[in-house]
Amino acid sequence: MMDAVIDEIDGRMIRVGDRWLADFASCNYLGFDLDRDIIEAVPPALDTWGTHPSWSRLLGSPILYEQIEERLTGLLGSEDSLVLPTITHIHMSVIPLLAASGTIFLDERAHKTIYDGCQAAKARGAAVRRFRFEDPDHLDQLMAAERDPTRLVCMDGVNSMTGNPPDLVAFADVARRHGALLYVDDAHGFGVIGERGPGETSPYGMRGNSIVRHAGESYDNVILVAGFSKSYSSLLAFIACPTEIKQMLKVAASPYLYSGPSPIASLATALAGFDVNELRGDALRARLHALTTRLLDGMARLDIATPNRSGLPIVEIPLRDHRRIAEVGRYLFDQGVYVTLAAYPLVPKAEVGFRVQLTAANTEAEVDTALAALEGLAERGLLRAAGDAIGTLTPGA
Ligand SMILES: Cc1ncc(COP(=O)(O)O)c(C=O)c1O
Repeated sequence: MMDAVIDEIDGRMIRVGDRWLADFASCNYLGFDLDRDIIEAVPPALDTWGTHPSWSRLLGSPILYEQIEERLTGLLGSEDSLVLPTITHIHMSVIPLLAASGTIFLDERAHKTIYDGCQAAKARGAAVRRFRFEDPDHLDQLMAAERDPTRLVCMDGVNSMTGNPPDLVAFADVARRHGALLYVDDAHGFGVIGERGPGETSPYGMRGNSIVRHAGESYDNVILVAGFSKSYSSLLAFIACPTEIKQMLKVAASPYLYSGPSPIASLATALAGFDVNELRGDALRARLHALTTRLLDGMARLDIATPNRSGLPIVEIPLRDHRRIAEVGRYLFDQGVYVTLAAYPLVPKAEVGFRVQLTAANTEAEVDTALAALEGLAERGLLRAAGDAIGTLTPGA
């Protein structure tokens, strides 16, 4: 179940050696990786631009970048946006710049890449304080006790393990009251959740324009970071920020100056992704919601615990006994179900389990296969019942 060599795919079925498995480990939430309209957008872009621009963005960017940033800014409703290859690049370069020698308030369960960005900032003179997961009151207390006037709050949007979004309104309120910038990584929310409204096809909201819009928040003092490598199935990431910060990053953020750019295929798929999102995105989100509901309802019937309260397509399933993770992985593999295992020491012993992620390209039959395998695990006493206490889970990849 780890480091597998995938020999072939057919929709969301994958072949590992001679076994076909239903894939619940991909983050391609909208199924754009398999979308014909998006696939067909790549060859003409390659004909026009070649395979890879290879200039650092400081030297020059194909106009595709301008088009992506314009579309993105419009979709998000932010003042501006800047596109770089990955979220990891952004965290490692932007967090130290925004924090300078001030104080970072870091969610104790923040994704490893945010944590690493904060460590880079610390090495350059910032102080780092940890606040409790999902606890804006604790953040409030820490900030009230802090004298440093330069403050940055760093946290996840939709959590990569629990599948739950934070109370963004509460966190933004605390950050603003204490004169801080709130820096949010919504890698898993972008493309899945969006603005609420009467026309919405599911509780995920409309347009997939991420957590700030979903929460009905503004971008005042809020910096949103997310990427195309999940819902949009492309290698690209962005920071939505005021133009003033964008201009600063263009001369100070290392990846803009020194890193190679994303391949043309990624730029083309991001642009085509905007078109498909506009035309069919809400229908795909409705499908994703329906498949996730099928799984969660089935799990509730089987009395299987999960920290997922949101109905979003990330469903973590903790084990009753962390030592049996290899047995669980083997059983799921034998039942033809591929998931992300969270084994010790990647997560604390109390949080060992596995994560089932759904995408719009999964089928009802695949979800039923997963449910049958979960039933088998529950019958063997390997899973926790819904009434059992579940510790908070550490975010993973
Ligand atoms: C919350 C979160 N942030 C950042 C990343 C890393 O994103 P990227 O591959 O764009 O560096 C991931 C996982 O891929 C993630 O889950």
